[in-house]
Amino acid sequence: MKVAVIGTGYVGLVTGVVLAELGNDVVCVDNDPEKIDKLRNGIPPIYEPGVEEMLKSGLRDGFLSISDSIREATRASEIVFIAVGTPPGDDGTPDLTAVRAVAAEIGKAIDKYTVVVNKSTVPVGSGELVETIIAEQGADRSSFDVVSNPEFLREGSAIYDTLNPDRIVIGAKSRDAAVKLVELYAPIEKPMIITDLESAEMIKYASNSLLATKISFINAISRLCELTGANVADVAKGVGADNRIGPQFLGAGLGWGGSCFPKDVQGLIKISERYGYDFRLLREAWNINSDQTQHFLRRIESRLGSLADKNIALLGLAFKPNTDDIRFAKSLEIIEYILERGGNVAAYDPVAAEHVKDLYPSVTYVDSVYEVSDQADALVLVTEWNEFKQIDLDRLGGPMRQRLLFDGRRVYSKQLAERAGFEYFTVGSS
Ligand code: UDX
Repeated sequence: MKVAVIGTGYVGLVTGVVLAELGNDVVCVDNDPEKIDKLRNGIPPIYEPGVEEMLKSGLRDGFLSISDSIREATRASEIVFIAVGTPPGDDGTPDLTAVRAVAAEIGKAIDKYTVVVNKSTVPVGSGELVETIIAEQGADRSSFDVVSNPEFLREGSAIYDTLNPDRIVIGAKSRDAAVKLVELYAPIEKPMIITDLESAEMIKYASNSLLATKISFINAISRLCELTGANVADVAKGVGADNRIGPQFLGAGLGWGGSCFPKDVQGLIKISERYGYDFRLLREAWNINSDQTQHFLRRIESRLGSLADKNIALLGLAFKPNTDDIRFAKSLEIIEYILERGGNVAAYDPVAAEHVKDLYPSVTYVDSVYEVSDQADALVLVTEWNEFKQIDLDRLGGPMRQRLLFDGRRVYSKQLAERAGFEYFTVGSS
């Protein structure tokens, strides 16, 4: 099929390269000349395992092209995906400026029947909005349909998730448009759930909010574990063994960050407000998440007496492993807290340091993990990269002023840390 994907962020680029890999004729569109240039040379503007290979093979084999023209891409395609950003505005409401602008461009370009697919996470009712904007540009209502097809990919495993989704959600008013998407996704051979537009839009917010709430729940339990002497890892194992609950997203730690959970939880709270419903459960999930890191920081501060003039070494900066994304990363909150109290920070991350440098130039960024602990008073594990899991703790502790280890993601065990001479603190156990 002939497909256009507008927006080459995580969702857009991954969708584009995967659809090209499946043999579709795909054009990826962006308005950022720098990105276009990189993409044409086979360089993805994001760090995501597998994307570069698929981008290069798509370009080489002729299934993928890169363009800066929404008009040309729309005219060349049967299906046009809108995959531009919807960042939270000042009050947390998703900002639809980019979606509106793209919809208007598509509306001007449509010259034959086109299925326009909203893949960006947009509030309930946005499908209708896109339809109205396209029609306002003069496109005949019978010449297009709008479909909602939310994305559930995780950063770090985006290609795998796109090719192996648990389900594909297609929300449409028109049967013909839904069938078009069913045909497009048929080679993936996964269950498809066909709904109306509004329900598909809600599924995305509800899924992410429920997952975030699940993590907040186990983090609340982790606080209670610290007070009672229980161990949250064992508790999560026991709770998650119930098939009705499941073991995933019960990892207690510093809490959730990233480009989706904070944005979507905040977004759903705002959407609810707009409809006059106070989503208290979600507001509390948000509060628990914010407090989780602050509580951990207070524990570090209390053990050190004061953070003033203390050297704190951070292992990891990305919001989670296998990504260079630092949006809503807990590392930022941690750096800010320490610097505000007169402490010094050294940090190591395999890929994300570049993005943090501009924000916090006073932090010392090192190129190898064993350099980070030089003269440190405490080591704080922030992101559970694989390379930290088997690290030589004794070697890491060698150049430290004192061997204190604060494990924010429960990567190590007390026994292992103590064997290397560390005093060990973690989330959810005493
Ligand atoms: C998430 C959703 O999983 C995905 O379906 C959606 O499309 C986008 O948002 P992503 O943001 O890439 O994906 O990351 P994910 O792996 O889900 O982790 C989100 C956050 O939760 C991270 O900060 C992670 O550290 C945290 N997390 C995850 C926990 O604290 N504990 C867990 O058990 C799982």
